[in-house]
Amino acid sequence: MVCARQLMLGWVRLCVLVVSADCRSFKCWGGDVCSDRPPVVLIPGDLGNQLEAKLDKPSVVHYICYKRTDEYFTLWLNLELLVPVAIDCWVDNMRLIYNRTTHGSEAPPGVDIRVPGFGKTFGLEYLDPSKHSVGMYFFTIVQALVDWGYTRDEDVRGAPYDWRKAPNENKEYFLQLQLMIEEMANKYGGPVVLIAHSMGNMYTLYFLNQQPQAWKDKYIKAFVSLGPPWAGVAKTLRVMASGDNNRIPVISSLKIRAQQRTAVSTPWLFPYAHTWPAELVLVSTATTNYTVRDYERFFRDIGFEDGWYMRQDTEALVSRLVAPGVPVHCLYGTGLLTARGYHYEAFPDAEPSKVMFDDGDGTVNVRSALQCKRWSDQQRQPVRLVELPGNEHVAMLLNVTTVTYIKSVLFSP
Ligand SMILES: *[C@@H]1O[C@H](CO)[C@@H](O)[C@H](O)[C@H]1NC(C)=O
Ligand SMILES: *[C@@H]1O[C@H](CO)[C@@H](O)[C@H](O)[C@H]1NC(C)=O
Ligand SMILES: *[C@@H]1O[C@H](CO)[C@@H](O)[C@H](O)[C@H]1NC(C)=O
Repeated sequence: MVCARQLMLGWVRLCVLVVSADCRSFKCWGGDVCSDRPPVVLIPGDLGNQLEAKLDKPSVVHYICYKRTDEYFTLWLNLELLVPVAIDCWVDNMRLIYNRTTHGSEAPPGVDIRVPGFGKTFGLEYLDPSKHSVGMYFFTIVQALVDWGYTRDEDVRGAPYDWRKAPNENKEYFLQLQLMIEEMANKYGGPVVLIAHSMGNMYTLYFLNQQPQAWKDKYIKAFVSLGPPWAGVAKTLRVMASGDNNRIPVISSLKIRAQQRTAVSTPWLFPYAHTWPAELVLVSTATTNYTVRDYERFFRDIGFEDGWYMRQDTEALVSRLVAPGVPVHCLYGTGLLTARGYHYEAFPDAEPSKVMFDDGDGTVNVRSALQCKRWSDQQRQPVRLVELPGNEHVAMLLNVTTVTYIKSVLFSP
């Protein structure tokens, strides 16, 4: 396919046809590999790729905390840093400081955070570089792609980013992503398939909304959207109010809340009024009900007014849900209890005393995931919705149904 295109362009290429069980590919003299499978870019979700830190801090919160390191070390995910006491150091390195004047957030003095492995897959296959199974994330999908003939960091690449921030503070990331997609499309001879998970879908939509239609027609074959929170998720209110140690039980929620509150991407994912009913109570206390219209008061009452600024800075980024303008495959889990609202007896410094549930994947409410439906009549490219009954938000990345579906997208003509 590519070789044919190159001939049309007048290039002289010597290519060898390689036939394997899954596909045909062409190895071309001169370094390029042309193939009949589209290159793939993976865009992870919140907490969904490794982060590293290097320290040279003026002060530390506890004598056991490192003040200075010679090298970058893994800050996420590193389970050793999340045990009692060490977690205080971790929170102080991981938190962001919001500035109401610049509307930007920064690492604390002397903390340098970087995202390792842009363009590579390791940082999102496993969140934990020691490949502890608790941190297994995109590994199953990447390994399946390799089994079908793909090569890691070549025609399947990762696009990790600083998921503590929303797109307004990740401008350079989108430029890098654009250049990588163009490079892959040119190198492998065809448009790219984007596979995003969770908040990565919001990032991808934001990215696609910035691109001219001609660019998308040329460079994007399809957008596979796994567990997308298009209208936000109710769980974010709990994260902001009382903290959420959900996946790592040794951590105290209140401890980790100190860090979680500073992540601008969390208020960005608060439920959106375009989908959530105005009368639906997201958080209730003995004296107050908070709905999608009450975020300003909510942030004031939890004692974190920066959160209201963060929400205002980020709300408009994708709140119009402008159609992406590329073929979309929306895969979403259902059948799991998914928080829709919380009641607090002690607010906000204790766990909620009661949780109200919705349908969803355990994290993303189904009403939020289903919003891709609205694009069916807003764009000429196809929009497919695929329900995955019984699939949990992260576990859906491991499920054979998901993997088989991705294969059908990649190898469809
Ligand atoms: C916020 O940013 C402004 C402008 O750069 C700066 O003057 C101010 O000191 C910053 N505020 C804090 C609290 O760092
Ligand atoms: C909160 O909303 C519920 C209905 O969801 C209502 O019964 C209750 O009276 C409201 N409480 C307050 C304090 O407004
Ligand atoms: C995988 O997903 C399918 C479709 O939703 C579901 O029926 C099946 O139970 C899942 N398998 C596992 C092991 O979770």
